Amino acid sequence: MDFYEIETKYGAGVYAKHQLSIVRGQGASLFDADGNEYLDCTSGHGVANLGHAHPKVAAAIAEQASTLITLFESYPNDKRAALMQKMASLVPGLERVFFCNSGTEAVEAALKFARISTSCTNVVAAMRAFHGRTFGSLSATFNKKYRDGFEPLVPGFIHVPYNKVEALKAAVTEETAAIILEVIQGEGGVYPADAEYIRAARRICDEKGALLIVDEIQSGFGRTGKMFAVQHFEVMPDLLCCAKSLAGGVPMGAVLIGQNVQNLTPGVHGSTFGGNPLSCAAGLAALTAIEEEDLAGQAAEKGAYLMDKLRKIESPIIREVRGMGLMVGIELKKKVAPYLKALQDRNILALNAGMTVLRLLPPLVISYEQIDHLVDVLTDVLAKNSFTDAGE
Ligand SMILES: Cc1ncc(COP(=O)(O)O)c(C=O)c1O
Repeated sequence: MDFYEIETKYGAGVYAKHQLSIVRGQGASLFDADGNEYLDCTSGHGVANLGHAHPKVAAAIAEQASTLITLFESYPNDKRAALMQKMASLVPGLERVFFCNSGTEAVEAALKFARISTSCTNVVAAMRAFHGRTFGSLSATFNKKYRDGFEPLVPGFIHVPYNKVEALKAAVTEETAAIILEVIQGEGGVYPADAEYIRAARRICDEKGALLIVDEIQSGFGRTGKMFAVQHFEVMPDLLCCAKSLAGGVPMGAVLIGQNVQNLTPGVHGSTFGGNPLSCAAGLAALTAIEEEDLAGQAAEKGAYLMDKLRKIESPIIREVRGMGLMVGIELKKKVAPYLKALQDRNILALNAGMTVLRLLPPLVISYEQIDHLVDVLTDVLAKNSFTDAGE
């Protein structure tokens, strides 16, 4: 049996699997067992911002693995303390941090913190939003595809159209604990927020006494051209959720916490693995490398280069190219699945975002040559293939 057959037989069945097994990564490349190379434009859904097998992250993990892997947060630790200090320096004003193990856990923590802090229960989220798949974060997630079959979800959540200030204003009341927003919607189709929308969200929260939660789980750590996407707009949230590329690929999530968030006392929340020294050592190495290699600057420049080239592709199938930095969506006039398969057949791995958006989330260390190659292959795939939506 090959790996595909084994995983299909023994896996839970909740993932649609590609018939392509990957055993190694290096920089922006992935390799199958036969040594065939693939250009990774997925980064594991935005995890591998630093590329695969980054030597400093690998060395930090190896060293910490033989020093101390696990330690509950009740006992302070050198690596955790250092990572806390580092994270406190990322966004002035957000100087406390809660560590967990994934994106959805970061959102769960932020929602709980908003409720305990404000003594209110309601949460206003956006249409098309994706915040995770556990019950709190799923309640903030919009798409029926993720919610159907799991109701009743957590009460008190409503969804309003994204980028519409008046609708947001109308939805927030004195009973609202928080507004939760992605600064650029990822799974929902790669839709960047307008600056005025994010600034209005901050103002509305201040007026009504609600907290502003930004979900930077996909957009964080340099992806959009700043350390966090919200920094494009000079808005300070009260709670900032991050995960994915925080620890260079080792599972880790975090919530950065501002002054307005209160009542965080012992026992209010916690996590067995949260803040474990192994993840913290990886996080410290990853954040140091992200800063030293100016990954945010790289994403800004390479993203502008990529989007410029994509916008010059003359294809009747392309409806729009949009994004921020190296978080890029190409909206097609057709369903995207067969085009993704055609790209994979040409050794380029990319993502969808909904039915018609082709999403590119390459490692931020992707080279200009690799970007040129990506655009050449994509141009060819769009020109040569005319898949009918009915045939999928
Ligand atoms: C914006 C956003 N929030 C939350 C999540 C959930 O993260 P995780 O899969 O680590 O639970 C994701 C994952 O794609 C995401 O993109």
